[in-house]
Amino acid sequence: MSKPIIELEKIDKAYQLGKEHFLPVLKNINITLKKGDFIAIMGPSGSGKSTLMNIIGLLDRPNAGVYRLDEQNIETLPKRQFPKLRSKKVGFIFQNYNLLPRYSVYKNVELPLIYAKVPRIKRKEKVINAIKAVGLSDRIKHKPNELSGGEAQRATIARAIVNEPEIILADEPTGNLDTKTGKEIMALLKEANKKGATVIVVTHDPQIAQWASKTVVMVDGEFVGGKEGRE
Ligand SMILES: Nc1ncnc2c1ncn2[C@@H]1O[C@H](COP(=O)(O)OP(=O)(O)O)[C@@H](O)[C@H]1O
Ligand SMILES: [Mg+2]
Repeated sequence: MSKPIIELEKIDKAYQLGKEHFLPVLKNINITLKKGDFIAIMGPSGSGKSTLMNIIGLLDRPNAGVYRLDEQNIETLPKRQFPKLRSKKVGFIFQNYNLLPRYSVYKNVELPLIYAKVPRIKRKEKVINAIKAVGLSDRIKHKPNELSGGEAQRATIARAIVNEPEIILADEPTGNLDTKTGKEIMALLKEANKKGATVIVVTHDPQIAQWASKTVVMVDGEFVGGKEGRE
């Protein structure tokens, strides 16, 4: 039995809009992921999927409930430790790639290692290996606007896996891609998962969700059931 890596218990999140006006976005979210799980989150736009990903990725905090990451309650950690923990444990992939436009593929992929204070001498090998793993070695000096959508997303996968994170969070990673390219992206995520990463992918596309071993559906800030995937 693998150990739990992400445990959410009764998580609530509301955004404050006015002085006394709160918009509840997550309501009583309960889920446990074990190391090596690969889950898909589906659900309509505005249902709270990205908000949940931000909480899991330590970009945001819940208003109530318990989040244990690697069996540690994150409430017990000072917020200033979040960025360091995040850069060590989490790789993010977004729909719109979020690559820095002025930097080459190489530099974009190197950045998480710089944030994580990996010594320069070790960075080069890791960056080159990650770029090779996503099949982008011949685009290493390209800037993001010199890449196709599929190539840009492969660069963000290289950036997400370069530090060998335990958790990969992909928020609609194939949303801007054609079906064939989307499959290639999912194959890369599956590969990272096989090497041990816990993967969460948000998608609207049932075909994409099939890559995961479990799907959960979020409606209006709540999980409303789900189903096992093809594996
Ligand atoms: N920073 C914010 N401030 C206020 N409301 C927000 C903020 N971020 C998201 N929301 C609202 O929360 C709801 C859920 O958003 P989101 O988590 O992005 O949904 P999804 O990713 O499922 O489309 C939406 O109604 C959105 O308008
Ligand atoms: Mg979203």
